Order: sequence, then structure tokens, then C-alpha cells
Amino acid sequence: MHRITLRQIQIFETVARYESHTKAAAIIHMTQPAVSMQMKQLEESMGIKLIERHGKSITLTREGQALRKYTSNIMQSYRALESYVDKLKGCERGNLSVSATTTANHFTSRILSEFSRLHSNVNLTLDVTNRITILKQLEYNEPDLVIMGEPPEGLNLESEIFMNNPLVIIAPANHPLKKQKNIPLEQVLKEKFVSREAGSGTRKAIKKHMKKHQVKCESGLEMSSNEAIKHAVAAGFGLGIVSLHTIELELKSNYLCTLDVETFPILRHWHLVTRKGKHMSHIASAFRQFLLDECTNLT
Ligand code: PGA
Repeated sequence: MHRITLRQIQIFETVARYESHTKAAAIIHMTQPAVSMQMKQLEESMGIKLIERHGKSITLTREGQALRKYTSNIMQSYRALESYVDKLKGCERGNLSVSATTTANHFTSRILSEFSRLHSNVNLTLDVTNRITILKQLEYNEPDLVIMGEPPEGLNLESEIFMNNPLVIIAPANHPLKKQKNIPLEQVLKEKFVSREAGSGTRKAIKKHMKKHQVKCESGLEMSSNEAIKHAVAAGFGLGIVSLHTIELELKSNYLCTLDVETFPILRHWHLVTRKGKHMSHIASAFRQFLLDECTNLT
């Protein structure tokens, strides 16, 4: 293997994470051709093919995937070194990378923005994606901290609950059942539902709830974001089930209402998750504490 550089490893890591040269280029402030060239040079130095093209999209080859375990370790140690040096110098600088599930983004962005006002020298990255993609990121130990619903068992993760996450049934503001109390579950399930995409944690929790109560929820329309669901429900496509944390403004402005249905809300929690044994940088610890303090005030 010819000489490879830390920068090339960083580029490979970012390309692998986003499966896109263009997105990786934007994240690490390079041009897309420069990223492609560095990837090509890395492949030549190693003498193996790391990525495969499928039209416009790319994926890692089997060798690329195998290599990722090593490159993740290298980048993790590098970030630990960076943060240790900062700590020794007594200065607060560095990077903080947080990944949040789509639903958690509703409060994560606000909390991160308040945190960044207090820590202006910290370079923040927030990746908002659904549960299944977050689990892939955790497998490679990529983000410093993850904010998600229930973490899966058996993935060697450390998690702590920091806030409740009630899932509620939403309807257009003028829905005839709006004022009714304790509506039987079977009655609302006669209506069509607008549901989240496969891979969503919210969808998984709803499925589990319906199974527990031995009922079925008919999906009339599938959408990949809470925003889209809210608009579809308001437009009369059907009912929806979303986290209460995503509809604060819509309830205030009377755009949507929640229905008081038996067995609801589904009680879930938000978790702060990392891979077991992950080095927690000075900044990541500060953000963890900030989040815990902020969310205690919210609940
Ligand atoms: P999601 O998030 O439905 O946006 O994937 C919820 C969760 O983390 O469980």
C-alpha cells in the first residue's frame, strides 16, 4: 500500500457516510471534483476499489465496507486526540456531530442553536435522518451523540432517557370527533391513516401498539416526513399518528387537533445514545449536560 493521508481517510469516511460525493464535498468544504480525485487516488494507493457507481448514486464495495471499520477507528482516535489537545490548552474549540431522527429534529435544532450561542467556537454538524439510517451510523460509531426514540437491544449501545415522547392521533381542526372523550380505538381505525415510511421509528412504535391491542391501522397514504403528514391530514387525506413534539405550532394555530382516543397517547421516550465505550469529547459532554438541563425544563 502506497502512502495514504489522514485527509483521504476523512474524505472516504464522509463519502461512505452520505453515499454521495456531492454531499461529502459540502460537509468537508471541498469541491465535488476534488473529492472524486482524492477518492480515486486513495483507491490507487490501496490498490482496491472502494466504491461502485449505480447511475447517479454510489455505494461501498464489499472491500470498502470492510475497510470502514478501520477508518472509523482512525477518525475516532483522531477526534479524541483533537479534543484532548484542546482541553490541555484550556480552549474550547472542536467539532460536535449530532444525529437526530427526523421526529427529534423539532426540538434538537432549537437546543443545538442555543448551545452554539454559548459555544461559538464549536463546529456543529446536525444530521437529520430516520431511525434505520441512524442505526447504520451507530454501527460505524460515527456521530458523537445520537438523539432517537427507543434504541434497539443487542447493538452494544449506551443510552439514557431524557424526555417523554407521546405519540398522538391528529386530525383536521374541524374533525367531528374533536370534542369527544375516550373515543374507542376501533372507531378511529375505521378511518384511513397517513403513515410514515418504512424505517421510521414512529411507524415501528405504532405497529407495536396496534399489535399489542390486536387491531390493524389501515394506511391510505405513506409519507417520509412529519411535515408532509401534517399537511396531508389537514387537507383531509386521513388521520395521522405523530409525536406531540412535532405539532406544537399546528395546535396553537388551530391547523390540526388531537383526538382523545383510548390507549393513546402511545408513551415513548427520547434517548441520548452512543456506542458503548465511545470516547466522549469535552464538547460532547457539555452538549449532553445542556440537553439534559434544557429538556428537564420542557417535561
Ligand atoms: P422517526 O423517529 O420516526 O423520525 O424515525 C422516531 C424515533 O426515533 O423512534
